[in-house]
Amino acid sequence: MGRLENKVAIITGAASGMGEATAKLFASEGAKIVAADINMEALERVVKEIKDKNGEAIAQFVDIGEEEKIKEMIQAAVDTYGRLDILHNNAARLDFKNDLNVKDLDVFEWDETMRYNLRSVMLGTKYAIPVMLENGGGSIINTASMGGQVGELTKSAYAAAKAGVIGLTKSTAVQFGKQGIRCNAIAPGMVLNDFIIENAPEGLKQLIEVYQETKLVNRIGNPRDIANLALFLASEESDFITGQVINADGGILAQNPTVPQVKSKNLNW
Ligand SMILES: NC(=O)c1ccc[n+]([C@@H]2O[C@H](COP(=O)([O-])OP(=O)(O)OC[C@H]3O[C@@H](n4cnc5c(N)ncnc54)[C@H](O)[C@@H]3O)[C@@H](O)[C@H]2O)c1
Repeated sequence: MGRLENKVAIITGAASGMGEATAKLFASEGAKIVAADINMEALERVVKEIKDKNGEAIAQFVDIGEEEKIKEMIQAAVDTYGRLDILHNNAARLDFKNDLNVKDLDVFEWDETMRYNLRSVMLGTKYAIPVMLENGGGSIINTASMGGQVGELTKSAYAAAKAGVIGLTKSTAVQFGKQGIRCNAIAPGMVLNDFIIENAPEGLKQLIEVYQETKLVNRIGNPRDIANLALFLASEESDFITGQVINADGGILAQNPTVPQVKSKNLNW
């Protein structure tokens, strides 16, 4: 028996990266999947791969910037499978070129980032809750980020939106815990699939090296690492865990920020 047998799960951003890995893992554990994404071509491929392994899944178009589309996505779970147990608000937007330091940040970029990274999570949660309550509860898993907890040189809007996701996660947990809905956030560090690592442009290669050196474990995160955590949070094994932000970042946020410098200077005091 799978760890998610008879559960119905919606995963946004299921056409690639962590969402794809999670949709496939959930399906292999017996969940019926509403795989949702804006990229239908890639999504159809993911759904086919799930079905080829005898999993159950549908491909559902969603643009997480559009309230009506989010409503339709929730309704698709009800119409197809009759219920909803798990919502993974995973899809997001990050525009490296325009999400700059706060002085140079354009209001359009700020608004769009809030729309796709925070408002979308609120809307998914808002429309999932009534459906989950009909079956006595569920598990909502939001994707935050390391970037929502510490400052960076750019990505000001992304950081603020992801910090907002953490706040929303806690509010949801507080407000609906007694009614059987748990809500937790996953905060990934750098997570890249093998293809991206192998084909990374020079700038990204250098950034990967910095992360490699700073992490407490000896590798970069893989989407499967996040899928494994999402599976735990979706399953009944995490029944006593709600309102938490769990860092899946190779330990990068656990260390005193001076440690890498202390190490490199080989201080002996
Ligand atoms: N990759 C990382 O290093 C990292 C680190 C921290 C947090 N995160 C967060 O993890 C989550 C997943 O990231 P990933 O790296 O797997 O992303 P990804 O780019 O591999 O996949 C994102 C998916 O979301 C879909 N998407 C984009 N805009 C959409 C929209 N408007 N409506 C519906 N779907 C849309 C894309 O088509 C794509 O399939 C995001 O919330 C991201 O912010 C990623």
